[in-house]
Amino acid sequence: MPTNVLVGVAWPYPNGEKHIGQIAGAYLPPDTFARFQRLRGERVLMVSGSDTHGTPITLAAEAVGKAPMEIVEQYHELFVDGCLEMGITFDLYTHTETQQHWDTTHEMFTRHLDAEYIYKDVQSQLFDPKAGRFLPDRYVEGTCPFCGYADARGDQCDNCGRLYDATDLIEPRSKLSDASELETRETEHFFLDMGRMNGPLLEWMKTDKEHWRPNVRNFTLGQLGLEELRGRPITRDIAWGVTIPVEGYDDKRIYVWYDAVIGYLSAAREWAELDGEAAAWREWWDADVNPGARIYNFIGKDNIPFHTIIWPGMLQAYSTGESRLNLPYDVPSNEYLNLGGEQFSTSRGNVIGFNTVLEAFQPDAVRYVLTALAPETNDVEFTWDDFVERVNAELVANWGNLVNRVLGFANKRFGGVVPTPGELDDIDEALLDEVRSGFESVADRYEAVQLRAALIECRRLSQRVNQYLNEKAPWTLVKTDEAAAATAVWVALQAIDWLRILWSPILPHSSQSVHEMLGREGPLFGRQYTETVSDARGSHLVLRYDHTDAVGTWESSELTPGTAFGPLVPLFEKLDRETVEDRLR
Ligand code: MF3
Ligand code: ZN
Repeated sequence: MPTNVLVGVAWPYPNGEKHIGQIAGAYLPPDTFARFQRLRGERVLMVSGSDTHGTPITLAAEAVGKAPMEIVEQYHELFVDGCLEMGITFDLYTHTETQQHWDTTHEMFTRHLDAEYIYKDVQSQLFDPKAGRFLPDRYVEGTCPFCGYADARGDQCDNCGRLYDATDLIEPRSKLSDASELETRETEHFFLDMGRMNGPLLEWMKTDKEHWRPNVRNFTLGQLGLEELRGRPITRDIAWGVTIPVEGYDDKRIYVWYDAVIGYLSAAREWAELDGEAAAWREWWDADVNPGARIYNFIGKDNIPFHTIIWPGMLQAYSTGESRLNLPYDVPSNEYLNLGGEQFSTSRGNVIGFNTVLEAFQPDAVRYVLTALAPETNDVEFTWDDFVERVNAELVANWGNLVNRVLGFANKRFGGVVPTPGELDDIDEALLDEVRSGFESVADRYEAVQLRAALIECRRLSQRVNQYLNEKAPWTLVKTDEAAAATAVWVALQAIDWLRILWSPILPHSSQSVHEMLGREGPLFGRQYTETVSDARGSHLVLRYDHTDAVGTWESSELTPGTAFGPLVPLFEKLDRETVEDRLR
């Protein structure tokens, strides 16, 4: 029985071009993982969308004098383009200005309110007297009350990741004016009763979390163990966002994080509806229909408390009534990929754009380097020298050359078909055994979301085939013993054929090329496409994925002698520093 695997991917703000640090942290890893699970035959649903609300959007819109929705549409489309280029295979990539998302958010809010997990209270909020406006979230900065970081935002500190209320900031500063003194004013808001969630969340964290990354588990247990969660306001004094489904609050909106996390659920529902089976989302989400479904949330580390505390708390609170929802199975959060010793940051201008990089380089070259550098356990530094070096010395020299030299030789000396091997010797058998064992050793690493380790294992196995070829030297052997050379070439081709599958979650495009060069048919993976969908809130662009024709499976099938090769193409392009600079200019 296949397992239902929901791959939930952090919802990016459509407020600018995303940068490769964000791609390495939150967007590429889930695709690699989802592709592996699909090859294994699991039922994968990978969903996300643009996080269209809140102050990250209004600030970006105000900066250029546009309406929030204009900014949303512009950058939503740009991100979708990048995903098509890179091959990020969302079953559905939507956004949060949809009827389904609003309905699901209203439904959850109402359920929380009815169960008294949401209550009303009066709150002191920072107010800018010069601008005449409240200062929610990103409209204010100041010093973090926990770690002393000087540029902490109104709702969260980028340095220590902790959450707090803006009034807790030391020396708060308005982003709207140079007002020297900010006021605090009373305003009525809805609060999520996190205090009531503390105990149940701690219980949940004590069950079956050994597979969680230590930093995610420790951060979460640390916060919950203090038993000091308290009510958090989940509405704001702004005009942009999901409305509050209670009368008399027309001038306020739901806090962006409350609605954004609900996206994992609403997007699954939208997917099911688009797919023509409206109840199908339950096979991933409904604990009464399928308690064995596994929900993964791929995020960057600044998102940890929202995904390990607030969202599971919201799910538990929702699950008190007639239906119960599944909680996250794992939250593989990454650290940061830094550029030249600093975090990639759009506001500081030291960024390498997602779309920009894909215009300049092969998607698999980018996928390779970002996986090789995956910041899974600590922050990692990105440099262009390293990029060039890894593409040339690892990707081109190891895997690319292996494929191209064996296929080139076989094509020339054995008539463009897979040659027929003679009797295999111990060296042949040992090589095949070792590469075949990759279907377990590499699988274990993908399964554990250790994608960097999976890459290293694929690289090691590819290198083993290169060693084998150096030892057998079929190009020399062919002059004296053609049959022995044919055997060595068949063995190498068989190993390449398996490596094509082992590499494919990381390198889907070039694995497809190898697949075709080896004379195999059909696509390893499915087809991505976009569509414009209309609903009561308007129309929106979605990115989708159709897996029906995919032929890739995680198994060591036999490469049949006599199979004719497809046209041979070079797998990867060699780079140098100058080319890199030219293309990025
Ligand atoms: N937009 C948020 C960010 O970029 C992430 C939201 S993840 C969500 O940090 F799923 F919870 F929406
Ligand atoms: Zn801090």
